[in-house]
Amino acid sequence: MSDSKTQLALFGGPRSIEREFPRYNHIGREEMEAAQRVLQSGVLSRFLGAWDPDFYGGPEVQAFEREWEQAFKVRHAVTVNSATSGLIAALGAVGLEPGDEVIVSPWTMSASATAILVWNAIPVFADIQPDTFNLDPAAVEKAITPRTRAIMAVDIFGQAADLDALAAISRRHSLALIEDCAQAPGALYGERHAGTVADIGVYSLNYHKHIHTGEGGVCVTDDARLAERLQLIRNHAESVVGDKGVTEIDNMIGFNFRMTEIEAAIGREQLKKLPALVASRQALAARLTRGLAGLKGLQTPVTRPGNTHAYYVYPMTMDPAVTGVSRERIIEALNAEGLSVGGGYVNLHLLPMYQRRIAYGKKGYPWMGGPYGGTVDYSKGICPVAEFLHERGVMHIGMCQFDYRPGDMDLLAATFRKVWASLGAL
Ligand SMILES: Cc1ncc(COP(=O)(O)O)c(C=O)c1O
Repeated sequence: MSDSKTQLALFGGPRSIEREFPRYNHIGREEMEAAQRVLQSGVLSRFLGAWDPDFYGGPEVQAFEREWEQAFKVRHAVTVNSATSGLIAALGAVGLEPGDEVIVSPWTMSASATAILVWNAIPVFADIQPDTFNLDPAAVEKAITPRTRAIMAVDIFGQAADLDALAAISRRHSLALIEDCAQAPGALYGERHAGTVADIGVYSLNYHKHIHTGEGGVCVTDDARLAERLQLIRNHAESVVGDKGVTEIDNMIGFNFRMTEIEAAIGREQLKKLPALVASRQALAARLTRGLAGLKGLQTPVTRPGNTHAYYVYPMTMDPAVTGVSRERIIEALNAEGLSVGGGYVNLHLLPMYQRRIAYGKKGYPWMGGPYGGTVDYSKGICPVAEFLHERGVMHIGMCQFDYRPGDMDLLAATFRKVWASLGAL
């Protein structure tokens, strides 16, 4: 029998965590002064959707891009108004044709796949690795058909995917490789930054990320031709290509994906803070991992040799056969203790859009009625690892949600230990 102190909050005992953690917030005086500087100039954006010096945006946007290139050791950075826009621009830039297939992880935020549909191309979901949650290269290889044109790797939770293996597959099959590194700014893949390994990488600067500009994103590439195509898609390509003398006009469709001067000025300050913010997430994660050691059936995050993990999220897998308790019940108990723990991603192929194949209009386009002649499968069961993890196997703690102090990790670990000590009662 447990005494009253160790009794789970779920059963009326005292909560392990009594207080609210402060919100993760790294907007300070520097960002306020930067925004003020732009406001005083009166030039809140200087983009012009025509072939003109202002086609490239104003001084803050251009300075931010040069600084991003330096920080990430990459030749070209192209800012956009969100990572969603950046992914759309990236897929257009690599020359997708309507009806092409693009292989993507089902274990990601929905925009990774909808960006494919925007070009009337077809997302094909390949399964993930059970320990890193990133695309499994073997599953990718199996999913390749004569229609495959690109692979979208997602550096999920803050760790780079198996990029060398995916790049080798891409080269072997003449595919483009895009890296959705929305969650992994500051993570390393060997010597390189996550995001800079694929043909194009796309970072997010939305409010929830390590660093942010409210909304925003950055595309990076070492390829000058792709950089130009990204800039064109960002900014009303169709009205620019003629005067700019661009002859390769496929996918040169007009969007306004432009970042404002205020966002760029804030982004420049945020970028300076990124290394310390990532390092502090890593220190927090290491302390939490030490605190969780030895809990039966619980696997703490796995980082591949050579990788560093940016810990946008601290993911754990749980084996219900070992704990003897469902993931849902354990999460319920942890939440009752005052600890915010979530489950996994809904697998994208199981969303109504894919299950019913209703995207543009009601008649099944682009799967039907267009140039696509393939037989992509979205049935439950096509990605057993991702499906199991979502339904039963994963728990996660958001590391850019609260402004945790190092000692807080001991409290989090003690909360897990309290729940694990009472698994039998759950
Ligand atoms: C993996 C991933 N891809 C894409 C996005 C889209 O980013 P944004 O909100 O900047 O459009 C997100 C944002 O949550 C994400 O986590």
